[in-house]
Amino acid sequence: MRQLFPAYLDPVQPAEVYADPPAVRVNMISSADGAASVDGRSGGLGGPADREVFHALRAAADVVLVGAGTVRDEGYGPSKTVLAIVSRSCHLDWGAPLFTRPGARPIVITVATAPESERARAREVADVLMAGEDTVDLRQAVGELTARGHHHVLAEGGATLNGALLAAGLIDELCLTLSPHLVGGASRRIVAGAPSEVSRDLVLRSACEEDSFLFLRYAVGSSNDSRKGG
Ligand SMILES: NC(=O)c1ccc[n+]([C@@H]2O[C@H](COP(=O)([O-])OP(=O)(O)OC[C@H]3O[C@@H](n4cnc5c(N)ncnc54)[C@H](OP(=O)(O)O)[C@@H]3O)[C@@H](O)[C@H]2O)c1
Repeated sequence: MRQLFPAYLDPVQPAEVYADPPAVRVNMISSADGAASVDGRSGGLGGPADREVFHALRAAADVVLVGAGTVRDEGYGPSKTVLAIVSRSCHLDWGAPLFTRPGARPIVITVATAPESERARAREVADVLMAGEDTVDLRQAVGELTARGHHHVLAEGGATLNGALLAAGLIDELCLTLSPHLVGGASRRIVAGAPSEVSRDLVLRSACEEDSFLFLRYAVGSSNDSRKGG
C-alpha cells in the first residue's frame, strides 16, 4: 500500500497509517457508486489490502462494536478482539461459532424490554450490558465499554448502527475503503436512518492506495448545522 496524503510514502504499513485510534472509529467499505454490500454482504467489495486494513484496525482497537444485523448477515465468527454486539431483540444464534468457539468473550448490548429468556441465554455465552429501555442508548453503551477499559471502540457497521452512532454524535473518525467497483442495484449506503440534520463535515487525515482501492481516513468534524445557521 502507498500513502498519497498527507505525505507520499511507498510502501506504508496499515498499522502505521491507522495508529493513534480515537474513542470511536467507524470502518466501512463502499463501492465507487456508494453500495455498502453486494448480494447482502460486504465481502464482494473487498480485496487483500482491505483485509489487511481491517485487521490493522482491529489490532488497534480495544473492542469492536457491531450491529446484530451485520453479525447475522456476515456470519461473524470468534475474534481475539472483544466483540460488542448491539441488539434490541437480543435474539442471536447462541449456538453459532461466535459464541461457542475460542475467542474473547463477546459482549451483548441490549435493552430492558428484550425478552428475559433471550437475555438469560445471552448470559450463558457472553457478558450482557443493559443500556436503555427500548433502544440501545449508544452514549451510555460506549461509556460502559470505556468504564470496562475499552477506550478505543471500532464500529464495523452496519448502516443502521452507523446511523444511530451518527445521530448520537459519537463518531470521531471514519475509515472508508472505496472499492473500485460499480455495482448498481438497491444496496444501502454506509449510513442509514439518521436524520439529515445530524450530518457532519469530514476532514481528510490520510489517503492510501493499493490495486485501485482507496483507503480514506477522515476525522469527523463539526455539525453542518452551525454553517447553515451562520
Ligand atoms: N460495507 C461495509 O463495510 C459493511 C459493514 C457492515 C455491514 N455491512 C452490510 O450491512 C448490512 C447490515 O446492516 P444493517 O443496517 O441491516 O444492520 P446493522 O446495523 O448491522 O444491525 C441492525 C440491528 O442492530 C441492532 N441495533 C442497531 N442499532 C441499535 C440501537 N440503537 N438500539 C437497539 N438495537 C440496535 C438491531 O438489532 P436487533 O434486530 O437484534 O434488534 C438492529 O436490527 C449487511 O448487508 C452487511 O453485509 C456492510
